[in-house]
Amino acid sequence: MKTAIEVCPVCAGSGWKPVLGALDGGVTRCDCRLRARGGALIAGARIPKRYEHCELSNFTTDFPGADHSIALAQISASRFVQEFDPRNGDGLLLVGGIGTGKTHLAVGILKELIGARGSSCLFCDYRELLKQIQNSYNASVQATELQVLRPVFDAEVLLLDELGAVKPSEWVWDTVSLILNTRYNDNRTTIITTNFADEPAASVTRSLSPARAAAREESLGDRIGERMRSRLHEMCRIVKMDGPDFRQKFKSASFG
Ligand SMILES: Nc1ncnc2c1ncn2[C@@H]1O[C@H](COP(=O)(O)OP(=O)(O)OP(=O)(O)O)[C@@H](O)[C@H]1O
Ligand SMILES: [Mg+2]
Ligand SMILES: [Zn+2]
Repeated sequence: MKTAIEVCPVCAGSGWKPVLGALDGGVTRCDCRLRARGGALIAGARIPKRYEHCELSNFTTDFPGADHSIALAQISASRFVQEFDPRNGDGLLLVGGIGTGKTHLAVGILKELIGARGSSCLFCDYRELLKQIQNSYNASVQATELQVLRPVFDAEVLLLDELGAVKPSEWVWDTVSLILNTRYNDNRTTIITTNFADEPAASVTRSLSPARAAAREESLGDRIGERMRSRLHEMCRIVKMDGPDFRQKFKSASFG
């Protein structure tokens, strides 16, 4: 039984409130219901504690040594939220060095989409996900591979954090392609962060001399395969984030 304190004074618990100024007795969803739904969606998004503070509004672009690309990335993130249309499936790929704020911006977008659009979102750590899937093959574990993947397939907006962070293998490539192709085919929005430069796999860059090839850093193409990198280009707008590691820069300051 509900106590008096829990009953909303605006709608008396019905979840509907009259539209202000409407003469025809029109009603709309009460704010209490929207808040409750927002709370449930935030919980459902499984944003890790470490990133709970991340909002678009507390992402600063004005700090000593800030790279211009950081301000551009913030603009892209805000525009993405404004233009978001769940029907077209357009996503974002945030590419950049360690601590440039990729996950912060991506989580900020998720929260805006939840708050303003009521979208169902899911935060998913790439390494963690692959580990869970692998774990599901273990006979003593209850969850099946599909049970692990179902929410990843179904989320209206998926944030796949740290794409490429697992050492590539045939199995890793197959799993990444299953996830990305399923979301692509269903026209679902995927937001991705990665530390790996959006460049082709070594097998494609034949022109490099052996010495340069050896010194070359691994690219996204190397880590997820060239086919999937090209699929990503169809699914996502690319946003590059350069500059210093925010964690190092503000280690002693109050930025967290
Ligand atoms: N421009 C910024 N304004 C405010 N906080 C920031 C900014 N950039 C980064 N941070 C904070 O610094 C920390 C590191 O940022 P974040 O995790 O987003 O970096 P990242 O690019 O995802 O790094 P990694 O490549 O290691 O995953 C976070 O706590 C984040 O909130
Ligand atoms: Mg990150
Ligand atoms: Zn109410």
